[in-house]
Amino acid sequence: MELKERLRQNKKNGSALLATNFYNFETLAAVLTAAREMKSGLIVQLSESSIRYMGLEVATALARAAISQFGVEAWLHLDHGQNVDLVKRCIDAGFDSVMIDASEKSFAENIKVTKQIVNYASGYETNVEAELGYISKLGQEQKMIYTRPDEAKEFVEATGINALAVAVGSAHGFYKETPNLQLDLISEINAVTDAALVLHGSSGIPDDQLQRAIKMGITKINLATEIKNIFMKSLQETLMHTDNIDLREVFPTATSAAVTLVSGKLKTINFEQS
Ligand code: 13P
Ligand code: ZN
Ligand code: NA
Repeated sequence: MELKERLRQNKKNGSALLATNFYNFETLAAVLTAAREMKSGLIVQLSESSIRYMGLEVATALARAAISQFGVEAWLHLDHGQNVDLVKRCIDAGFDSVMIDASEKSFAENIKVTKQIVNYASGYETNVEAELGYISKLGQEQKMIYTRPDEAKEFVEATGINALAVAVGSAHGFYKETPNLQLDLISEINAVTDAALVLHGSSGIPDDQLQRAIKMGITKINLATEIKNIFMKSLQETLMHTDNIDLREVFPTATSAAVTLVSGKLKTINFEQS
């Protein structure tokens, strides 16, 4: 099923998909193993920097081959695409979904750039996500700007996007204090737009808040930092106690730690709603 259609169903029945970032073969294998174990659909996503690291051709082929080999229902998505040319190349390469992130631009510019991508994607079945308001990155200067429901309605109608990343109290990276998602705001935005709502910055958000956010209308949950963190912490720990240079024997402990993390998140997100 196209991701576009799947997210439409998610929005209708009040459920959500987990979207996990991956960085190399091991982290991709980890997230797909978790999805297979939990019998769950999953979005696997690449940032611009991960695409630069692997190269678009390798990254795309790796993702496609792994999804097929693991036998999981999974979709490939570009996360935070800021470079319009790269976003178009990802659409051409057959990504199921792309995010065009012009959230640092003015409202009018954001609409203009986003619309350009929606038009480009119209010949494909690509799901298009954009961001309105600003979801900050912890440790950086720029502060969060909450998404306004009236602007969200106008933005979705003007651009024709299928998915909208909303700034509702989350931030990228680990939090200094437990975040407080604005659940009423999610609900208000959800009521005025057809787009599937996306929660970014999910690392560090407690399970009960994730579940409440889904109940209020979030349909895609983006997770990156916790995966990177647990993989590298585990790898560092392993390396302190071994001088084994066979990387195929060194990596699996870190991969397993990431599988456990993502399986837990899938359990949280695919909860039975009463
Ligand atoms: P975290 O790194 O906080 O999980 O955020 C991930 C994200 O929003 C990717 O787009
Ligand atoms: Zn994000
Ligand atoms: Na976060």
